[in-house]
Amino acid sequence: MTDLEFRRISMFLKDRYGIDMTHKKEIMDGRLSNMIRIRGFDSYDAYMNALMQDSSGEMEKELVNLLSTNHTYFMREFEHFEYMKKVVLPYLRKEEENTQDLRIWCGAASSGEEPYTLAMLLLDFFGLEHDKWDTTVLATDISTEVLQSAVRGVYKKEQIAELPDNWKRRFFRPVEDGEYFAVTDELKKEVLFRQFNLMDDFPFRKKLHVIFLRNVMIYFDRPTKQSLIKKLYDVLEPGGYLFVGRTETIEKGNVPFELVEPSIFRKPLATKEEAIWRK
Ligand SMILES: C[S@@+](CC[C@H](N)C(=O)[O-])C[C@H]1O[C@@H](n2cnc3c(N)ncnc32)[C@H](O)[C@@H]1O
Repeated sequence: MTDLEFRRISMFLKDRYGIDMTHKKEIMDGRLSNMIRIRGFDSYDAYMNALMQDSSGEMEKELVNLLSTNHTYFMREFEHFEYMKKVVLPYLRKEEENTQDLRIWCGAASSGEEPYTLAMLLLDFFGLEHDKWDTTVLATDISTEVLQSAVRGVYKKEQIAELPDNWKRRFFRPVEDGEYFAVTDELKKEVLFRQFNLMDDFPFRKKLHVIFLRNVMIYFDRPTKQSLIKKLYDVLEPGGYLFVGRTETIEKGNVPFELVEPSIFRKPLATKEEAIWRK
């Protein structure tokens, strides 16, 4: 991969998906070289020319699948789920008791472990009341490959090892001699998987109560991150929560989020009171 070819692909990726690989030439080359060879291109430029001409979008999909980093696991950053259970859900159960409609979005859902963990928590938390509530988790990602595996919902035994036993029993059934576990239909129907690029305009008709956007902004540069945070702020209900990865930060001064716990942010409630006052 020449420097110019690298620049072409990394700018394409950054412009369209926000992913900043401008200092990761070796990683990029490592992830793409096999595919370039198998597809029979004699240079990265020839490959990119073909991709730009490909009206089906399949080549672009493949590129994104290869270049996105999808590492995730069940119960990752467990403190966030504890906070959901102890603070956020009790608050929302009271606040939304008339609508019984919770709007929860997991914006970098990868292969499903994160949104399924949220959905298990919701089913557990609402218990017998759950049928009366709409708590479907919207789970999106740009990578079609991980989304397909999320929809399949089959995980290795070791991948679900950290889940509480009662969750394992209730939400998974063994397949292939117990080496793999499949998500039950009860859990599957609580999560709606869709492809969505965080760089695009948000399509939500109603404001959201909770956003999980963890361990994805680390791949974006500062301006991309800042404009995304502004969009996240705007789409949240007053009093709504944003969870980011524990190693991620939100710069002060960008938007008036309150930091309620490390890596947990809240849109001030005052905004709602002000809104009612103005009505
Ligand atoms: C490292 S994984 C994090 C998964 C999960 N949130 C977690 O914390 O375990 C990052 C995910 O972000 C997705 N991603 C990267 N850029 C994106 C974009 N522009 N729009 C939507 N998803 C994106 C990747 O495809 C990948 O699945």
